[in-house]
Amino acid sequence: MRLLVKNIGELVVVSQSQHYLPGHQMNNIQKETGVLSVAVDDDGMIAECGKQEKVLAAYPETCFTSVIDAQGGSVLPGLVDGHTHPVWAGDRVHEFALKLSGASYMEVHQAGGGINFTVEKTRASSEQELLKLLIPRLERMLKSGTTTVECKSGYGLEVDTEIKMLKVLELARREVPIEISSTFCGAHSVPKGKSAAEATADVVENQLKAVLSANKSGELNVENIDVFCEKGVFEIEDSRTIMMAGQREGLRLNFHGDELYPLGGAELGAKLGAQAISHLEEISDEGIKAMAESGSVAVILPSTAYILRLKPPPVRKMIEDGVIVALGTDFNPNAHCLSMPVIMHLACVNLRMSMNEALAAATINAAHSIGRGATHGSIQVGKVGDLLILNEKKWEHLVYQLGDNSAVQFVVKKGNIVYTKI
Ligand code: NIG
Ligand code: FE
Repeated sequence: MRLLVKNIGELVVVSQSQHYLPGHQMNNIQKETGVLSVAVDDDGMIAECGKQEKVLAAYPETCFTSVIDAQGGSVLPGLVDGHTHPVWAGDRVHEFALKLSGASYMEVHQAGGGINFTVEKTRASSEQELLKLLIPRLERMLKSGTTTVECKSGYGLEVDTEIKMLKVLELARREVPIEISSTFCGAHSVPKGKSAAEATADVVENQLKAVLSANKSGELNVENIDVFCEKGVFEIEDSRTIMMAGQREGLRLNFHGDELYPLGGAELGAKLGAQAISHLEEISDEGIKAMAESGSVAVILPSTAYILRLKPPPVRKMIEDGVIVALGTDFNPNAHCLSMPVIMHLACVNLRMSMNEALAAATINAAHSIGRGATHGSIQVGKVGDLLILNEKKWEHLVYQLGDNSAVQFVVKKGNIVYTKI
């Protein structure tokens, strides 16, 4: 057996049996208190959990390679970050100043900055340079409790750089013990010199084909396809064309919609059976209804709305109407935040989610948004042994202690201790 976590005072299971929690069910987080343990087997899966007596009767302490004494602290599932853009070179700190003084995201973008700035820097960087930048970002995510993360390409906008970015994600899997769900986002912006129609054709005919053949040969393991579906970028018909091409080949749809303009991205995604749609600041009431019916996960990105001073997404209405809500950091050169606990804090304070809802959104629902609801995001026998051990008795300290990560004592990925606070 790989790991025993003993003397847990509060075990935040999240859900005993469900693979996601829609709407009001998000507030119903399951937890146990007492003297509790979790046992993780040599495959990294949870073999037993709950009352310490029961766990130790099944697996005596001597059969474990590692033992953590939680000293009465709280234990919860490893966090899942549902949306990031972590592979890039060239920061945009200069644009932060511009935006603070009033420039909008689209003004910066249309002036050739924003994504296009990052595209130039990323195209000019080698695989090894990008990997060197990526590794400490992933390590910082782990340290703040993220054990599984969705990671996008999208700063190449042409075959070679898109493939390079996705390869860098494959290389990173060998370097950092965080689990990556990789997403092809060649339709992140219309590259300079191309129309949206030409860019759409290039994504479908060249980039996607290269990604699929690299997937087939085992060189890549891309799971999702993403499009920046936005007015003036890829609008509804182009987005549909790109996503249907990916879906036909087995990729899950997981895209940016209704961020800056109410284009109907939510309605499109629901109709196509998208697994997840991100942002949604400008979602319509019909869009909310459609997502509640289709079961597409709304991946909410509170740091982006905060940094860009956007209208907050209508999360309360989504929850009222039964949408499955998840959270992500959206880490990218525009929104430079790697910490899910900070995101949860913003979700509670700015978007009026309860702490329970934020936890469901940062665990089981984010896991479901990347097709892992059956295996990740809750503490159940048979699920992956991804755990956060806090040095506090109540898990809410994770959200309450803003920004300094001091409540996280250990981070465990598949039963391996990957971070210890000294
Ligand atoms: O999710 N909105 C589009 N994409 C990213 C921003 C990427 C960038 O500005 O580099 C987002 O916020
Ligand atoms: Fe994004």
